[in-house]
Amino acid sequence: MAETVKLFVNGREVEVEAGKNLIDALRVVGIEIPHFCYHPALGADGNCRMCLVGIEDGRPPLVPACKTPAQPGMKVLLDDQKIRKIQRDIMELELINHPVDCPVCDQAGECRLQDYYMEYDLQDSRMRVPQVTKGKRMDFGCGVVHDQERCVLCARCVRFTRQITKTGELGIVNRSDQARVTIFPGRPLNNRYALNIVDICPVGAMTSRDFRFKQRVWFLQKDEGICHGCSTGCAIYIDHHREKNGDDVIYRYRARTNMQVNGYFICDAGRLSYKRENENRQDLTLVDGVVVDFEQGIAAALEKMNKARRPLLLVSPDATLEQMWAIKRIATFYGATLSGYSDAYRIDDDGDDFLISDDKAANRYSLELLEIDRDRESFQAALAHADLLVNFDNDLFFSPINESLQRLLGEQDRISVCSHQLPVFSGSSVILPCASPSEYGGSIINRHGVLQRFRRAVRRNADPRDILEITHLLGGAISSAERAWPGIRQSVPVLRSVEPEQIPVEGLLLNNSEERDVGP
Ligand code: SF4
Ligand code: SF4
Ligand code: FES
Repeated sequence: MAETVKLFVNGREVEVEAGKNLIDALRVVGIEIPHFCYHPALGADGNCRMCLVGIEDGRPPLVPACKTPAQPGMKVLLDDQKIRKIQRDIMELELINHPVDCPVCDQAGECRLQDYYMEYDLQDSRMRVPQVTKGKRMDFGCGVVHDQERCVLCARCVRFTRQITKTGELGIVNRSDQARVTIFPGRPLNNRYALNIVDICPVGAMTSRDFRFKQRVWFLQKDEGICHGCSTGCAIYIDHHREKNGDDVIYRYRARTNMQVNGYFICDAGRLSYKRENENRQDLTLVDGVVVDFEQGIAAALEKMNKARRPLLLVSPDATLEQMWAIKRIATFYGATLSGYSDAYRIDDDGDDFLISDDKAANRYSLELLEIDRDRESFQAALAHADLLVNFDNDLFFSPINESLQRLLGEQDRISVCSHQLPVFSGSSVILPCASPSEYGGSIINRHGVLQRFRRAVRRNADPRDILEITHLLGGAISSAERAWPGIRQSVPVLRSVEPEQIPVEGLLLNNSEERDVGP
């Protein structure tokens, strides 16, 4: 446990982590200090002065909390008259040229300026001269739209491109009321993490072209999830909303802080991968191309599985640990060959040294833990030999490397349990729709061996079934993720003492090794 110190805030004693600045240290005990420019990933810049606090120990009367470490016995003043006055003065300064835009601003509802005005300001404008006008709706590239008039010049975005992506596309030019954030002429944002700027901008000056004007944020239900875009498994928020008489639709993913996995950020491709959850979904149950009830589809699949002499079951590397276990169990039940072949989920040289991985599978690590074969040769041999392939949502054509398998895929009867309409599933005699990751819960293990849990976020009207539930309907013994755990614990030594309900929010590191690339 981290070392702690005791100090006083407005006369009340609190115990906080030593060494942290006052903003971070006091937030943990429920005390918020207003601030614009400080961000834990970017450090203290000290430019906004919104975080000024008093310290009763003979220092200068006011100090920036972002640059002041918590120290034992420190007496911090937050609701002093002088501090209130300074907060109001800073708010007045920030708002002198700020447009009264809130009703049409995308940030309304999650804007620091709006919140702090209500909390610390609440005064009428004294401006009697026209406001300074600046650039509106500026296309900064990578889907980022900038509004110079709304900017409070905290420089978070500029520091992000300098410190995090090290691409340096942004700068602040000019001085005083002419100062503005801009890109260099002809050099727009050009990095794979640019949309994080929208998250870290404390006001509505940086907005996402993708999300702008699609939904008011107070209508969004915000659930925690895990990105399935690659094997890093970044923590995300899934923001979704069900319109009256409509469907539950995901509007955006945002970065969720997880210091064990992704820190404060996610990549743009992962952020925009929410679209996949909404689009091209397989909602209909089909038997020989005819739409039937889901129960009829299950009956047809059962009949084929019972008759098959050499069935082959294929599991997806995106499936949860519990789903994989359930599929493994029914493979044993039917005497089927089981494969987790998924070379197509790897895109060589696409990863970087920050978050993005070459491996586009969310849970390949679990395939290895459950000892599910992933070898191409053995899959190909089993495929050539099989009279029935039951594919549990494995997109063998995720990348083009498997074109040679197409011919082999036509040679046996096929059942596809799939969440999306993809070429790999066409030609199947039975198609059973299933849920996509935002629509079920379970556990996945990222490439570094961090076991994370996630819960169901979205409930679409079509209500597709969890793969695990489908395996149960196909004769499997596992009826829920919880019921998978006794068997998983028994057969996987490293998970023997894991209680899924006790896995921390930041995940459980299963080994202490450096990155462990399990390969396809
Ligand atoms: S655009 Fe946003 S993040 Fe950048 S300086 Fe302005 S307020 Fe800060
Ligand atoms: S790095 Fe991978 S897991 Fe993280 S947001 Fe991007 S695609 Fe998703
Ligand atoms: S947050 Fe401390 S000066 Fe801006």
